[in-house]
Amino acid sequence: MPEDHRGRTSPETVTAAASGTWRLGDLTINRLGFGSMRLTGRSAFAAGSTSDRERSIAVLRRAVELGVNHIDTASFYFSALRSANELINSALAPYPDDLVLATKVWPGRDASGEWWWATPEQLRGQVEENLRQLGRDHLDVVNLRVPPSVGTGSIADHFGALAELREAGLIRHLGVSHVRPAQLAEARAIAPVVCVQNPYGLEASAAQEEVLRASGEAGIAFVPYFAIAGAGREQGAVAAEHETVREVARAHGATPAQVRLAWTLGRGPHVLAIPGTGNPDHLTENVAAGALRLTEEETAALNGARSGG
Ligand SMILES: NC(=O)c1ccc[n+]([C@@H]2O[C@H](COP(=O)([O-])OP(=O)(O)OC[C@H]3O[C@@H](n4cnc5c(N)ncnc54)[C@H](OP(=O)(O)O)[C@@H]3O)[C@@H](O)[C@H]2O)c1
Repeated sequence: MPEDHRGRTSPETVTAAASGTWRLGDLTINRLGFGSMRLTGRSAFAAGSTSDRERSIAVLRRAVELGVNHIDTASFYFSALRSANELINSALAPYPDDLVLATKVWPGRDASGEWWWATPEQLRGQVEENLRQLGRDHLDVVNLRVPPSVGTGSIADHFGALAELREAGLIRHLGVSHVRPAQLAEARAIAPVVCVQNPYGLEASAAQEEVLRASGEAGIAFVPYFAIAGAGREQGAVAAEHETVREVARAHGATPAQVRLAWTLGRGPHVLAIPGTGNPDHLTENVAAGALRLTEEETAALNGARSGG
């Protein structure tokens, strides 16, 4: 991380390019990206949770200024008065040529916020909803977000329907989200998969670790969500921070959130980051985490902390 004249790290000068790049199909992105779920309010799905619109727009514009060129979104990221897709469109259109917008389908929310799950035939409508809201004629990346109720079951019918929308030119690249290794293999047998978006971070289970490894072996991006929030999931980073994370953070003049992001990026060159925030200071910090390099000893200590050590 660059240092200022007093020898302190200066995150303001760090851009997302410091994290290195990865290719999603033919699209090159910086590994450190942005998740838009937190732009609509502290909890995207809570009734009455509403963000300051100008602040959210400023965060998006600043992210792009800082070199972020991979933004994760969904049409179901909305609170009472804010929609992530609307904010992205208003803040960033006309979009920079190198900006990759990744969205996800299968879950949906009706106008009052109630969840529903699309049939294979209904996926086209969800893709078109994203196209309308984002103001695009095709989507760069669409993840098939598998509902919990599917468990280890087949995703072939839904993924096949999405593959047809790719053939029709509505989608450039396909991904899968919330999957097990067998479901990733099933999807790959139907059409090319460029990314896997699963929950992952310091607290990840062996099963989650297996998906990260399987993605790397296949040369596919692994895109973790909840890398900062961890077990707090939708609630955010609410749990008391692990002392080892605090110690490593202190050693670098960094924050625990930065250490969590740096550790995650250290899991492999195919691992990306899409930290979510509506806070401009957190955005700057998160981008700067792409330049934070942990020593082998620090990584080993953090690995030890995972197993309760
Ligand atoms: N495929 C899926 O099913 C799925 C599920 C969940 C999320 N996602 C995507 O993944 C992205 C990341 O997930 P996420 O946003 O839930 O979790 P996250 O990035 O792990 O953490 C976000 C939480 O941490 C806080 N935070 C962010 N940066 C921070 C920092 N530097 N210091 C302290 N606190 C910080 C945020 O609050 P502030 O706003 O106050 O900073 C928010 O509460 C989402 O935005 C979304 O695009 C996908």
